[in-house]
Amino acid sequence: MQRVNNHNARKGDARALDPRLSLRDIGHSFVPGTYLFRHLTVDFAAGEVWGLKGPSGSGKSTLLSIVAGWEAPREGSVARIGINTTRWVFQNPLGVAQRSVMDHVALPFLAVGLGRQEAEHRAADILGAFGLEDSADKRFSLLSGGEAQRLMLARAAAGKPDLILVDEPTAQLDRATAATVNGVLGALAASGAVVVVASHDLETLEACKAVLDLQEFAGTNNESHVINPVGRL
Ligand SMILES: Nc1ncnc2c1ncn2[C@@H]1O[C@H](COP(=O)(O)OP(=O)(O)OP(=O)(O)O)[C@@H](O)[C@H]1O
Ligand SMILES: [Mg+2]
Repeated sequence: MQRVNNHNARKGDARALDPRLSLRDIGHSFVPGTYLFRHLTVDFAAGEVWGLKGPSGSGKSTLLSIVAGWEAPREGSVARIGINTTRWVFQNPLGVAQRSVMDHVALPFLAVGLGRQEAEHRAADILGAFGLEDSADKRFSLLSGGEAQRLMLARAAAGKPDLILVDEPTAQLDRATAATVNGVLGALAASGAVVVVASHDLETLEACKAVLDLQEFAGTNNESHVINPVGRL
């Protein structure tokens, strides 16, 4: 429970085939000689929500980019096993103002060639799972912050991703709405995805299987500590 580690998956164990990521001795710097973090070794498995915390500027979003493969780490390696589709959910929900909630979630299904009826049928199922069934016909521009954030998560889920990266999902939400979004993150993980969430929100982090504190890996700390980085708050 405390340790994020999938090394012990047995041969022949179905879980060994689940999507997972394996980061080994990762270090990253944008400015030569000044590391954001170093010597970071961690495994993220499917079916759970993994948290990243740390002060502003500690590199949470950067580490998400490294996990996604957008940014190459200066040191170390990232193995992505069974990860074919990745989705991001950003802090500020980015939707199309005039499009309906239904359109946002149906689009990924239309994009893979389903007819509109089937696409909307599947989208309706997902909207239900995210508590948005009554908002299907609302325009994006009329959604509350929490509804918009849940819609972004629903849209991510519609792509059936193996990996979902979520950056500060609850930063702008009230407590009750944040709690709903935290529940949704758990549901996304339960659907078989690896979910990694960067957050300052204690309740979001508390809902994670384990939390990695980037402060423990700050570049100013030159001890070569290898690592049992992850534990509950
Ligand atoms: N592409 C880039 N080029 C140069 N510096 C960058 C780049 N991206 C991020 N940085 C710097 O790296 C540091 C870490 O940024 P990052 O966005 O990862 O922090 P964060 O932990 O996500 O912060 P916050 O909590 O404020 O979102 C910051 O000082 C930032 O300015
Ligand atoms: Mg950030």
